[in-house]
Amino acid sequence: MQALPIDGVALSRQIRADVGRRAAALTAQGRKPGLAVILVGDDPASAVYVRNKVKACEEHGLHSVLERYPATLPEAELLARVAALNADPAVHGILVQMPLPRHIDPQQVIEAIATHKDVDGFSVHSAGALMTGLPGLRPATPFGCMKLIESTGVNLKGKHAVVIGRSNTVGKPMALLLLQAHATVTVCHSATPDLALHTRQADVVVAAVGRRNTLTAEMVKPGAIVIDVGMNRNEAGKLCGDVDFAGVSEVAGWITPVPGGVGPMTITMLLVNTLQAAEEAARTTA
Ligand code: GUN
Repeated sequence: MQALPIDGVALSRQIRADVGRRAAALTAQGRKPGLAVILVGDDPASAVYVRNKVKACEEHGLHSVLERYPATLPEAELLARVAALNADPAVHGILVQMPLPRHIDPQQVIEAIATHKDVDGFSVHSAGALMTGLPGLRPATPFGCMKLIESTGVNLKGKHAVVIGRSNTVGKPMALLLLQAHATVTVCHSATPDLALHTRQADVVVAAVGRRNTLTAEMVKPGAIVIDVGMNRNEAGKLCGDVDFAGVSEVAGWITPVPGGVGPMTITMLLVNTLQAAEEAARTTA
């Protein structure tokens, strides 16, 4: 069997076209959706991510504000900036790029963001809403993975999904989203003794560990959907995921490539969240 690729670039393009239409409709009502991004310090990778987020906003008719501060910014000043953005009616989403310098407590900053502007979905409130099935903003990467799975047309009800990884940003919310879609969910992690025992029974595998070749062909059930969240480099410096793409493609039914799978969907779902926040603001404020 040769797996069908799940094209994250094409799906992103479709979703972003819809974002553009919805943004234009809000702008026509004088309610242009706005995202504020805060970058503290000069980590080059973070600077690239942040630039891409701002660029995506501009390309799809959203207003964006980028605030850059030196790594020495006191925590109190960052919290004051978040408070000002919470009060700014032109800003519907606030994203503080992680990681933050060590003297700043990231959870303190995340919790300072108004719940209805928490477009990362990282706050305790957003996590609790996801856990209890209440409406709210969902973390962009697992939200994007769900869209990629949905694009296969496979109904998750009654399927067995295995998530590899238990981070607060990907693994845990991914498991909850799959559960909400009526899958039976197993979460595996670094202390799981026999990973293959679980993955071999899975109709869906989401690999989010950050180690290449974590999932190989003999660990996959024929026909399974394989979603690769990993972003690693091989010896030659080439970008690769957590999945042995060539080997697993011989067994799986569907597979996301790296690059071109989950990656483009993360920024796309950030745009979707910002738009959702702006639409909600338009509904609830005069
Ligand atoms: N750093 C790497 N990915 C992310 C993300 O999705 N959100 C934030 N805020 N920081 C990040």
